Amino acid sequence: TIKRITAPEIAARKGGEPIVVLTSYHAQSAALVDPHVDVLMVGDSLGMVMHGLDTTVPVPLDLMIAHAQAVVRGSERALVVVDMPFGSYEESPAVAFRNASRIMKETGCGAVKLEGGVQMAETIAFLTARGIPVMAHIGMTPQAVNQLGGFAARGRRQAEWARFEQDAQAVAEAGAFAVVIEAVAEGLAARITQEIPIPTIGIGASPECDGQVLVLEDMLGLSPRVPKFVKEYAELRTAVEGAVKAYARDVRGRAFPAEEHTYSTLEEVPEALKK
Ligand code: KIV
Ligand code: NA
Repeated sequence: TIKRITAPEIAARKGGEPIVVLTSYHAQSAALVDPHVDVLMVGDSLGMVMHGLDTTVPVPLDLMIAHAQAVVRGSERALVVVDMPFGSYEESPAVAFRNASRIMKETGCGAVKLEGGVQMAETIAFLTARGIPVMAHIGMTPQAVNQLGGFAARGRRQAEWARFEQDAQAVAEAGAFAVVIEAVAEGLAARITQEIPIPTIGIGASPECDGQVLVLEDMLGLSPRVPKFVKEYAELRTAVEGAVKAYARDVRGRAFPAEEHTYSTLEEVPEALKK
């Protein structure tokens, strides 16, 4: 039996209590976040956050799998959703299935996510008909950064709304169990949430979405620059800097390690040498 939250359970929460999603890239953060969220998202944003890439475009499938394995090991309750990286699904439904099934088999995650609307509907239908739950991702789709010319918000003019609404309808009809809507005008995200039967997960979207997602490092205040849509719930960058500076001062001043951080010898000291 499945002890974790499942994709169908997330789908059933349309219009209900908001769905809580955070990214996680490794076992320790997964264990910390798992008790408090519904979904742990192994986002390809890990390429930028963990590996210093400028975009998510170069992220390899094997890297996604390695991080996803760690997140599954570190958690027990949340649904783990793993991003399919650029180049691993666009070519054809068959290629997408081959790579999505690798992700499912090698990591033990509960679902995959891929970017695209109308253009990816056929692929989403192919995967969902074959046992792979798919979360879609529309609006500002970072893997298309070279086509879009940057990470700017989409649908800021109402004349552009129809195509994003079509994307949302298409992924819902294709069988996606939920859809991430990233960086679009608030009114557009609210409208799509009303129009489609599956949960919308907003990031830079609308409080009316059926759930919200943020990148963990961004909301913890670890990222040097964050988009407008991020709320920083902690200032860990400052905390880390303070701890590292204090450690460096202690090492240089021989204040660390102190006696409680060192090991005593275990041999009996010969009587003759005592006192
Ligand atoms: O890569 C990522 O982290 C994501 C989520 C923020 C939705 O796609
Ligand atoms: Na992503």
